[in-house]
Amino acid sequence: MKAAVYTRYGAPDVVTIQDMAKPVPKADEVLIRVRATTVSSGDWRMRSLNMPRGFTLLARPALGLFGPRKPVLGSELAGDVEAVGPQVRVFKPGDAVVAFPGIGLGCHAEYRTMRETGAIAHKPANLSYEEAAALSFGGSTALDFLTTKGNLRRGDKVLIIGASGAVGSAAVQIARHFGADVTGICSAANRALVLSLGANRTIDYAQEDFTRNGETYDIILDAAGTTCFARCKSSLKDKGRLLLVLSGLPALLQIPWIAMTSGKRVVAGPAAENPADLATLCALAREGAYRPAIDRSYPLDQIVEAHRYVDTGRKKGSVVITVA
Ligand SMILES: NC(=O)c1ccc[n+]([C@@H]2O[C@H](COP(=O)([O-])OP(=O)(O)OC[C@H]3O[C@@H](n4cnc5c(N)ncnc54)[C@H](OP(=O)(O)O)[C@@H]3O)[C@@H](O)[C@H]2O)c1
Repeated sequence: MKAAVYTRYGAPDVVTIQDMAKPVPKADEVLIRVRATTVSSGDWRMRSLNMPRGFTLLARPALGLFGPRKPVLGSELAGDVEAVGPQVRVFKPGDAVVAFPGIGLGCHAEYRTMRETGAIAHKPANLSYEEAAALSFGGSTALDFLTTKGNLRRGDKVLIIGASGAVGSAAVQIARHFGADVTGICSAANRALVLSLGANRTIDYAQEDFTRNGETYDIILDAAGTTCFARCKSSLKDKGRLLLVLSGLPALLQIPWIAMTSGKRVVAGPAAENPADLATLCALAREGAYRPAIDRSYPLDQIVEAHRYVDTGRKKGSVVITVA
């Protein structure tokens, strides 16, 4: 099978298309023929080793000291089940599925196996393969931060910084679905997109500083890495939560002190990756409450171009790779 492989960290052109052995499903596994996947901001970080402040030294031990331990990137996919192991009960050949191996990676390839009990689900019929491939990375991060970590409640006032990216565009839709009043921070160019996703209003970060407009929020979710507790504490209501999807080590270390002294809460760290959240995202997609935003698509053999575009930090929603 063909796969996009990287054997050293660096610029987009460290990725090359190579032939690899097609995986064989174990007894409890499903073999998926990949139809679409994404190049996410996570793939960019793992390929380039461009990490949030304080994490650079930890990156190599975690990902591979002398080169990537997992040479095929890609954390999410949509495709068709081609074969199943003898213990598999829920899926059968021909089923259209979505899967989110997450940090397990390996989706930038023509085939990937998944354990039946892993983060795999039937593809919502109302999503194309391209949309379904983009369901999980931004969606599960937004869902976990807003609901599990952030304890989102109906009627909450929510501010989403970076509302046009993969995480932000999912967060706008999920927060609205759960009954929040949503303000999205984005550039003027992305205002229409963010409003179309359901935001009640937008703030153009080039024109207005949200910390100076007198508004207060129950939740501020920062997916752009542009704020910190000291800067936005007066924009948080009592018991307000600052959800740092993107945070450096210094911000993480301050969290216990902030909790002890302010009555407000800062949450950071990795988003959970689990089958239950994937099932929730599929259910939201089926009822029309969540449709992944797609910026553009590239075929697998142009994946280097896709990496180049993701590296700009300016993508809207997800960048999809179609796999023939
Ligand atoms: N904690 C976790 O487990 C976790 C999980 C997933 C992602 N992340 C991190 O979260 C971050 C966001 O991920 P993503 O996939 O959503 O990224 P993304 O899709 O690459 O985000 C790109 C978007 O960010 C917007 N943006 C750039 N600068 C901005 C600013 N100053 N203010 C507001 N928006 C701005 C851009 O809009 P404009 O072009 O309009 O500026 C663009 O639409 C990444 O750094 C990623 O590493 C963390």
